[in-house]
Amino acid sequence: MAEPDAAVTIRPIRPDEWRRWRETRLRMLRDDSDFFATRYDDMVREPDATWREWVAEAAAGEDKTLFIAEDGDAWLGVVGAFVRINAREVQLISMWVDPEARGRGVARDLIRAVAAWTLGRGSARVVLFVQEANTPARRLYERAGFRVTGDRAPASAGRSAFKLVLAAPVADLLT
Ligand SMILES: CC(C)(COP(=O)(O)OP(=O)(O)OC[C@H]1O[C@@H](n2cnc3c(N)ncnc32)[C@H](O)[C@@H]1OP(=O)(O)O)[C@@H](O)C(=O)NCCC(=O)NCCS
Repeated sequence: MAEPDAAVTIRPIRPDEWRRWRETRLRMLRDDSDFFATRYDDMVREPDATWREWVAEAAAGEDKTLFIAEDGDAWLGVVGAFVRINAREVQLISMWVDPEARGRGVARDLIRAVAAWTLGRGSARVVLFVQEANTPARRLYERAGFRVTGDRAPASAGRSAFKLVLAAPVADLLT
């Protein structure tokens, strides 16, 4: 099982880091475009104000959050989460680990951070979408405690792939 890596720190993003988040987000959408519904071509056109506002809200951590996995100054990975309309549920989004840092348990640590945040704000369940063909991510989520709900939807307009809905009671993700 992937154990926490002592060299890796997981922390919430800070408001002044919006430019770095923009760079990281664009990189993940460009390099791993198959695994994300959001398109690089759309995000690259967003004005600075959009990034600034999103990061400010995530840094405040009330209804959304964004965690950074760091080793020294290097960002090894990121994950976001937000409270759904049903406040008992949090949706995990934007999971990504730098290819050079994969296989070290970074994503597993990021899931634990989202779970602790979920618990701290009184929500009970974490849900997410994963592309049916994304074997590494599906294995990651299943090892972490998520289970398929049976819901399945087209991955995004104009694409033939499907995404699955996975969910877990928050307590199952903290082990
Ligand atoms: C999926 C991803 C986040 C995994 O990150 P990671 O830091 O390498 O994952 P971890 O090291 O924390 O691995 C956790 C578990 O997932 C499994 N896993 C991770 N990568 C895997 C792979 N390529 N093949 C099979 N299993 C894999 C591991 O077996 C591990 O389980 P175990 O150690 O308990 O056996 C990373 O590959 C990535 O960023 N991919 C591209 C973006 C993406 O797909 N994001 C998810 C969108 S839903």
